[in-house]
Amino acid sequence: MQIRDARFLTSNTEVAKCPAPTLPEYAFIGRSNVGKSSLINMLTARNGLAKTSSLPGKTQLINHFLINEQWYLVDLPGYGYARVSKESRAKWGKMIRAYLSKRENLSCVFVLIDSRLPPQAVDLEFITMLGEMGVPFVLVFTKTDKQSGGRTEQNVQTFLAKMSETWEELPRYFVTSAVARDGRDEVLGFIEEVNQQ
Ligand code: GTP
Ligand code: MG
Repeated sequence: MQIRDARFLTSNTEVAKCPAPTLPEYAFIGRSNVGKSSLINMLTARNGLAKTSSLPGKTQLINHFLINEQWYLVDLPGYGYARVSKESRAKWGKMIRAYLSKRENLSCVFVLIDSRLPPQAVDLEFITMLGEMGVPFVLVFTKTDKQSGGRTEQNVQTFLAKMSETWEELPRYFVTSAVARDGRDEVLGFIEEVNQQ
């Protein structure tokens, strides 16, 4: 898929204030600092479209982008950052749960996983919640430029093996690097495929 047009629409905390649910929507979520905003910039080939930071907790709101006038891309605030107050965490949970359960045009959630780490409890818990809510999702392993391909493959397989302890069917997954621009065609091809269904 060619990205002919990508523009920021809105930032807010409420599902009711999101753009009209008239187009298919793809949301990006994962631990703080996992590379959600960077991946969005890589996919759209627009540096600075989504705000990135080396400090976790940069994205705090539900951010909508309109792509090719055809679909919405959503940058969500991350989870699992230790230095976050209990109140902020609860607020995040409420906002994200409301978004996931009420957003009727949500076609698929991309759950980003740091390819360098062993399976993290927060990621597995978030995936379990998606399953309980019946939200369709795929996995995206990020930051693969930071290690060898063999190491990435090993970590991906370890993550999938962990998931298979509780999941009968494993999700589709993508292996990406925002820096090396790896996985772009695969992710955009998947979105195109789902858009056509
Ligand atoms: P929050 O909005 O805080 O939840 O973070 P985020 O998941 O949006 O992460 P963000 O895209 O802001 O990236 C966090 C840091 O990781 C930044 O310093 C990025 O430059 C870096 N980063 C993101 N993706 C990659 C990647 O593929 N490779 C490398 N080497 N660094 C990356
Ligand atoms: Mg972000």
